[in-house]
Amino acid sequence: MTVTASRALGPNPQSFGSMFWENQFKTTIPLPSKDDSLKDQVAIITGSNSGLGLESAKQMLGAGLSRLIMGVRSIERGQEAAAQLRTVSTDAIIDVWQIDMENYQSIQRFVRRCEIDLPRIDFVILNAGIAPAYHAKLATGHESTVQVNYLSTVLLSILLLPVLKAKRPPGPEAQAPRLITLGSVTARNAKFPNKSQRPLLPSFDQITPALPWDPNDRYAVSKLLCQLTLERIAARYVDARDVVILMLEPGWVRGTGLFRALPAIPRCIVRGLLWVCGRPLEQGAATYFDAAVRQPVGSHGSYVMNCRVAPYADFLYTEEAEGVADALWDETMDDFSFANALEVLESMKKP
Ligand SMILES: NC(=O)c1ccc[n+]([C@@H]2O[C@H](COP(=O)([O-])OP(=O)(O)OC[C@H]3O[C@@H](n4cnc5c(N)ncnc54)[C@H](OP(=O)(O)O)[C@@H]3O)[C@@H](O)[C@H]2O)c1
Repeated sequence: MTVTASRALGPNPQSFGSMFWENQFKTTIPLPSKDDSLKDQVAIITGSNSGLGLESAKQMLGAGLSRLIMGVRSIERGQEAAAQLRTVSTDAIIDVWQIDMENYQSIQRFVRRCEIDLPRIDFVILNAGIAPAYHAKLATGHESTVQVNYLSTVLLSILLLPVLKAKRPPGPEAQAPRLITLGSVTARNAKFPNKSQRPLLPSFDQITPALPWDPNDRYAVSKLLCQLTLERIAARYVDARDVVILMLEPGWVRGTGLFRALPAIPRCIVRGLLWVCGRPLEQGAATYFDAAVRQPVGSHGSYVMNCRVAPYADFLYTEEAEGVADALWDETMDDFSFANALEVLESMKKP
């Protein structure tokens, strides 16, 4: 088992407030430069019809990306965004493929299409995510935030791993493909009141007196669950020479649609706060470029914030975390048994 760079750092000694201040007011993220070239490279970005996904696609295409697969739930919205992107690059191939992160069959179909249609993949950014205002139980049986941000993101990651390994760019100098998921600094503040409930996953699906609906905490917890499981996947199953896995924190970014589901008054408050302290969209998107192109291989399995490896959420360094991660792992792999997820992970250990 590899010790990831974030694990080796230990918990963040900075308070949340001073970390937030530094991130939002003291950090400038370098934008892609004229010397950055993504010529011949192929990228997949989910949720690239809006917000950070769309802006990062613009930056990648501006740097000469050869082919972009936009993984979107609405082909119509995807085509509208693709039309904008085609004004940035007239040379690149831009494909709009359907993927619905609320539907496991859609995820499996998307992965099969990557397997069949793409000769090469350089990086995948699993950017699609939600911050819903209300509790909704989906056809999968799970609450929507946990489904989209955690379960579906992890399933898509697992199923893409062998595809990425097989579609490695040619040549001894080529870097291993990258799989980048979107984290959030809010994971550090997650209250996670149901962490000792067993089974754990079904406890998210109902509103109960012990677990009243708290949309902020649910979003934070969904990103925390990703850290618990993706660290294990990277450290136990995936060699960085095959695929580099990164969990990316883009900052608190203004100009995206993430908070569109909030009721009018809270939405206005959040917009006001973002206007004052939000990171500009192009700088938020530039963290994607950094993760895809500049982060060293040694960041494999780590949480990357302000373009540097950073500690995971404090919870991951507690004694309690191990037991929670074990339960979460077993239940997650059970949920994914229809897709043979564990066998897929085991296959990554073979040469
Ligand atoms: N903005 C921030 O400050 C911030 C901070 C930390 C992390 N993040 C993360 O960054 C990522 C992008 O967020 P954003 O701020 O750019 O928000 P956004 O503008 O709302 O973009 C989210 C994207 O995800 C897509 N999506 C949502 N549900 C989906 C589903 N079921 N299937 C397929 N696609 C789906 C959306 O598609 P539709 O247009 O069809 O809804 C949209 O394209 C998210 O993972 C978020 O958690 C954002």
